[in-house]
Amino acid sequence: MSRKRVGVLHGVNLDQLGKRDPGVYGTFTLAELETRVHQWGYELDCEVTFWQTNHEGEYCEMLHEARDRTDGLILNPGAWTHYSYAIRDALEVCGLPAVEIHISEVDSREDWRRESVIRDLCVGRVQGEGADGYRRALQILREALG
Ligand code: DQA
Repeated sequence: MSRKRVGVLHGVNLDQLGKRDPGVYGTFTLAELETRVHQWGYELDCEVTFWQTNHEGEYCEMLHEARDRTDGLILNPGAWTHYSYAIRDALEVCGLPAVEIHISEVDSREDWRRESVIRDLCVGRVQGEGADGYRRALQILREALG
C-alpha cells in the first residue's frame, strides 16, 4: 500500500473556527482540526496537505493545482458549497476523487444549506459529525483510492 497524497481544502470562513457558533461548529480552531486530521491521515497511510482561502477564485486555483499535486481531495467549501458553479466546474476539471465534508449537519439547518452543487461529483459526503467527520471522510477517500 503506497502512501496517498490527500489535499484538504477549507473554504470561506473556515479560518474562523473557534469563533463561530460553538453549538453548530464546536470550539476547536482550524489549527487544532488540522493537527487531528494530520494524525488520522498518517494512520491511514495518507500524506495530508491543507489549504484555506476566503476567496472563491483562489479556491478554484487550488483545485487546478491540486490535480498535479495530490491523489484525492477532502472538500469543505463552506457556504460556496451551496451555490458556487465556479467551484463545481473547477472540481470537474480537476477530476480527482473527492469527499464533501461539513462539520455541521447542513441538511437539518436552513433550506438553502440543503443544496450542494458539488455533491454529484464527489465519491462520498459526510456531515454533522464535527471534527470526527474528517476521519470518516479520510476513510472513504482512502477506500476510493485503493
Ligand atoms: C459548513 C456548512 C456551511 O453551510 C457553512 O456555510 C459553513 C461551514 C460546515 O462545515 O458545516 O461555512 O460547510
